[in-house]
Amino acid sequence: HFDGHDQIWLFGYGSLIWKADFPYLERRPAHIHGWSRRFWQGSHDHRGTPEAPGRVATLVRDPAALCHGMAYRITPEVLAPLDVREKNGYLREVVSLCFDDAAGGRTEGLIYLAGEENAAFLGDAPPDAIAEQIARAHGPSGPNRDYLLNLAEALRELEVEDPHVFDLARRVVDSIDEAAHP
Ligand code: BEZ
Repeated sequence: HFDGHDQIWLFGYGSLIWKADFPYLERRPAHIHGWSRRFWQGSHDHRGTPEAPGRVATLVRDPAALCHGMAYRITPEVLAPLDVREKNGYLREVVSLCFDDAAGGRTEGLIYLAGEENAAFLGDAPPDAIAEQIARAHGPSGPNRDYLLNLAEALRELEVEDPHVFDLARRVVDSIDEAAHP
């Protein structure tokens, strides 16, 4: 935990944007610099299976990039169950958060991410291949496409740009429409 801190800002860039199943003191839209959201992390236990892993968001270092998401002010105890839930070897990093609401300001925050060292990390692939993988995969937490489309919807509500997510969402919706009306 954060030594000596009785509260922590946790920055969510994936499922945490629309689904925070933990108690929090406050929730504010925010962004971070130097990181890019990418569907580069494999999911064989939530949004896929070992035979057909899905893909979920992680953060990739990119000095020129911004990543928008949702920051939650929590007490340190809240991190314990999160660490269990994110038992897939996610790394924690301390980052500078910039709030996007009218009050603005900055503070230190925490992110969880999976990098190349993570056993489930998949990395980049052509957009059509990533979309196809997401469109097909299902896991204990539900269809992989719901994760992507929920994220795209949440980012739309935040009125932020994310070409990677919106392009994948459009591809997946198109493939669903095509399957329904061949
Ligand atoms: C997130 O939404 O920020 C997140 C969710 C699960 C694992 C890591 C990050």
